[in-house]
Amino acid sequence: MTITQDSSAPLIVVVGITGNQGGSVVNALAESSKPYRIRGLTRDVNKPAAQEFAAKGVEVVAVSLTSDNATGAREAFNGADITFVVTNYWEHLDVNREVAEVKMLIDQAKTVGVKLFIWSGLESIIKVSKGKYPNVHHFNGKGEITEYGRHSGIPFVNVQSGWYASNFAKLDGMKPKKQADGSFVLALPVGPQTLLPVLDTPHDYGLFVQEAIESPEFGAGSEVLTSGEDITVGDMVSQLAEITGKKITFARIGDEEFLAATGLPRSVALEVLESLKYHEEWGYYAGKTTDASRRHLARPTRTWADFVKSTNWSSILA
Ligand SMILES: NC(=O)c1ccc[n+]([C@@H]2O[C@H](COP(=O)([O-])OP(=O)(O)OC[C@H]3O[C@@H](n4cnc5c(N)ncnc54)[C@H](OP(=O)(O)O)[C@@H]3O)[C@@H](O)[C@H]2O)c1
Ligand SMILES: *[C@@H]1O[C@H](CO)[C@@H](O)[C@H](O)[C@H]1NC(C)=O
Repeated sequence: MTITQDSSAPLIVVVGITGNQGGSVVNALAESSKPYRIRGLTRDVNKPAAQEFAAKGVEVVAVSLTSDNATGAREAFNGADITFVVTNYWEHLDVNREVAEVKMLIDQAKTVGVKLFIWSGLESIIKVSKGKYPNVHHFNGKGEITEYGRHSGIPFVNVQSGWYASNFAKLDGMKPKKQADGSFVLALPVGPQTLLPVLDTPHDYGLFVQEAIESPEFGAGSEVLTSGEDITVGDMVSQLAEITGKKITFARIGDEEFLAATGLPRSVALEVLESLKYHEEWGYYAGKTTDASRRHLARPTRTWADFVKSTNWSSILA
């Protein structure tokens, strides 16, 4: 642990320390050989994750970063050299709210003189697909925010998050489903050759933020594309079967069948469906490769197989 209180060390303000990405950022910076002061933000300082970080020397601050709370955001960012910002679209499903909140945060960070604004963005699928897939709001909104940040004048870096490996263990539409004969099928509305930048997010996302801060090849104006490894969904299913010793096969299913299987309201399920089809046709990162972004990491990332081995599948594959 090199979290310091020494005022000569840069102050990094991290949004969402109780979550997957923000928690990973704090852990990576704490393990860096460089010293950092870390201020971690949450709406609830009593959450166990917040308390654990406080015990490790993180200054934990309560704030709700809604667009009507510019004053709260400015206070939370005050004195920061670097800010890391992630949103949680899935908590409210309101893209206008997501965009308004981060625009406000960019403006406030600029006001207090932040020297590097690190943003967890995603591609605008409506733009890349030229309107073919218009409904993936959790990507499109993040793309709009990235453009705003790039034009805002603040030193800005976009550290895009890869595909969470945990999606295949947690989401109803993606988990392997038990068949009448006792085997399992992982069914998606895309072909087995669909390539995904799979990331064990809590374990590894922060490494890429650390790289954006510490590696001279990245920093302001750059983009970091995170991935533990790029692997096809077909290969993921074969490896899952091999490692767990269960009979699991991949199946391509129709769009309507997939929409129903997600268990989500139709408009939300449509986001997931269109995002998968976009990944198949254009690639998650719109055809950009992740190699350069993996070159200066402080330690190796987990592969899909590593993630499978470190996950308890007993209730999922029961
Ligand atoms: N699933 C995927 O494959 C995937 C891939 C790429 C990107 N993403 C994106 O990842 C994002 C979620 O990131 P995550 O996994 O780190 O989320 P998470 O684990 O659910 O954590 C969200 C964090 O944001 C904080 N937060 C939310 N609203 C806040 C507010 N109004 N004020 C202050 N803090 C707030 C929460 O803090 P408190 O609750 O403690 O206040 C929490 O720490 C989503 O936007 C999603 O689109 C997902
Ligand atoms: C704004 O943030 C402050 C912390 O700086 C907090 O006390 C307050 O409740 C927040 N206000 C709103 C409207 O969320």
